[in-house]
Amino acid sequence: RGVTITVIGSCNVDFVVPVAELPGPGETVLGRDHLKTPGGKGANQAVAAARLGSRVVFVGCVGDDDLATTIRTALTDAGVELTWLHTAEDTPSGIALITVADGGENTIAVSPGANARLSPEHLNTSLLESTDVLLAQLEIPLEAVQAAVEAAHGRVLLNPAPARELPPELLARVDVLIPNRSELGVLAGAPEPTTTDEAAALARSLTGPSAVVVTLGADGALVVADDEVTHVPAVEVDAVDATGAGDAFCGALADALDRGSTLVEATRWAVRVAGISTTRQGAQTGMPRREDVS
Ligand code: RIB
Ligand code: NA
Repeated sequence: RGVTITVIGSCNVDFVVPVAELPGPGETVLGRDHLKTPGGKGANQAVAAARLGSRVVFVGCVGDDDLATTIRTALTDAGVELTWLHTAEDTPSGIALITVADGGENTIAVSPGANARLSPEHLNTSLLESTDVLLAQLEIPLEAVQAAVEAAHGRVLLNPAPARELPPELLARVDVLIPNRSELGVLAGAPEPTTTDEAAALARSLTGPSAVVVTLGADGALVVADDEVTHVPAVEVDAVDATGAGDAFCGALADALDRGSTLVEATRWAVRVAGISTTRQGAQTGMPRREDVS
């Protein structure tokens, strides 16, 4: 088998403090013992797809510090290929400071570190030409995302997180855009949609992507393609940590599409995988294996 899924994106170490309630501005709250776990939207999505059995290559950049070992080990253990994981000299690895409240809600502040050093020169053309599915997010420089998307011959999936406006040329190259509600609002230049109907209308208003899959958290997801809107309901779960649920969704969607599923079938699979990920602590540590998904 050739290369199937290439994920280009960020890799971080997450410092997680579990708290009863999220702190507000200027507030100090006392939490429980912290966890130091591998994260970063790119690495999380790569691990999600690899745990489901897909062949995954990760393109990213770590710093020249001890945290890089944590990042590498987690990706390697999940079976992700790291030939194109670069190291930036005199640069710290990316980190995220996360608080997770009882019930699973979180706040995240990211310091990109080495992730900000990933550039178009780091990309390998023959890798991108032989990739079936390219999956990207927005925690690395936009030029790197754009160059990868331009060089890709296979299907292009873009998770526009964290939210920002995007050039129309980039959106025009996207086959499946995977925003959550707030990212959809930013891209459509509108307030965050509050109902499924509003989300569907905004997704249809976007020009460029061939299809849009809007993640709706506890409401599941919305597939907007070929002028058809399909609502895929969520599975009921007892969430303990929603960190990385969106990444679980994106990795699973890439996995299913690469296996030949339709977009709606792939979305049903991704909703289940993301649901399970919220019942477990941590981003990468919460990604289920194929046999865990019934
Ligand atoms: O999507 C969750 C991820 O966002 C965390 O793992 C954190 O590292 C940030 O990148
Ligand atoms: Na989780």
